[in-house]
Amino acid sequence: MNILSIETSADETAVSVVQVTGEFPTASYELLGNALRSQAELHQGYGGIFPTIAKREHARALLPLLEQSLKEAHLVEPEPHKLPAEVIETLNTLLYREPDAAALLIPFLEQYNRPEIDMIAVTSGPGLEPALWVGVNFAKALATVWNIPVVPVNHIEGHVLASVFDVEEDNQLAKINFPALALLISGGHTELLLMQNWKQYEKIGETKDDAVGEAFDKVARLLGLPYPGGVEIDKLAERARKEKLPPLEKPLPRPMLTSGDLHFSFSGLKTAVRYAVQDQELSETAKAAWAREFQDAVTEVLLAKAKAAVDQFNIQTLIIGGGVSASRHLRQSFHAAFLESHPDLAVYFPTPGLSTDNSIMIALAGHAKIDGKLAPQAAVDLIKADGNKSLG
Ligand code: KG4
Ligand code: ZN
Repeated sequence: MNILSIETSADETAVSVVQVTGEFPTASYELLGNALRSQAELHQGYGGIFPTIAKREHARALLPLLEQSLKEAHLVEPEPHKLPAEVIETLNTLLYREPDAAALLIPFLEQYNRPEIDMIAVTSGPGLEPALWVGVNFAKALATVWNIPVVPVNHIEGHVLASVFDVEEDNQLAKINFPALALLISGGHTELLLMQNWKQYEKIGETKDDAVGEAFDKVARLLGLPYPGGVEIDKLAERARKEKLPPLEKPLPRPMLTSGDLHFSFSGLKTAVRYAVQDQELSETAKAAWAREFQDAVTEVLLAKAKAAVDQFNIQTLIIGGGVSASRHLRQSFHAAFLESHPDLAVYFPTPGLSTDNSIMIALAGHAKIDGKLAPQAAVDLIKADGNKSLG
């Protein structure tokens, strides 16, 4: 079965073609085509994602990425033909809010054959709703023309599955023991999810305010670093550690460390940094010291809560996912700490390329959802983007 997967929930547009052999969770997933475009540079001046820019750029990027992915998969060949007028009308109706996408898609469809795709998996939430709609409508349009099902996918489940997907060795999901704990840390989410089995998620902890990635981005901005801030803070903090810079005179708080529950709060950290650095000209060294202190504060809290949940629920497998899981310091700290305190616990991080948003994880989540049965094409009208869609 070939799955075409589409991701547009934030500032990455991505399209993949994944060939699946077998059934979830023991299937193997061969990556036939993969194309991704990041808009991060366009949002740099805003310190976060600017919704109208995100929407516009997704609409422009989807078709080139689809074409790239299908060509890489050798699934399209030139086959000029005219689409019936009623098909064109349906496409224009489905994409009436994305005229940029429609204008590119119709000539493409008329130029090439119908590729061998069996279903489309698309992120329908959570995320930035106007951005999600672009991907959802594009998926609906393709599904209608090709007469195949669209499976709406939860972005967070995609991150969880990406973290246990072995893209380097066997192209399979790891054989994990349950109960498992997923710590999802991204630009929009900070959640602890208890998994008694595959596809079963119970939210046992979450942030009361900012997500970790959001805090990274805001603090980066306060330090005069470009968006997305996580990577920049990672680099600077590493420098501070290498050069053994002295600690800050007044360390940052470790929010909620002793709250006795599994919840988080990160907005206070941003405020603390703001008060400390406002109206100051920070040297590169001072920025590096702040980056390290901020990263330490966040990592300590995440680690403590993950440990508490592991003990409380007798967790056998810890899965860390989402953009912030790219942090090298976080990875090293988690591996070192759990190796010492819980040597039998299996700890998974995504391969670096799958930490941040991508469409490979959306194919995995789409396959998880169909339970081995490819449902007939459902009424596409029923598929909606939902910015607040939750898991568990
Ligand atoms: O999962 P993701 O790509 O998008 C969302 O679903 O939100 O996560 C993006 C977030 C951004 O806030 C970015 O600053 C953060 O992940 N991030 C990092 C690193 N790389 C990306 N945070 C800390 N360290 C990193 N190396
Ligand atoms: Zn994400």
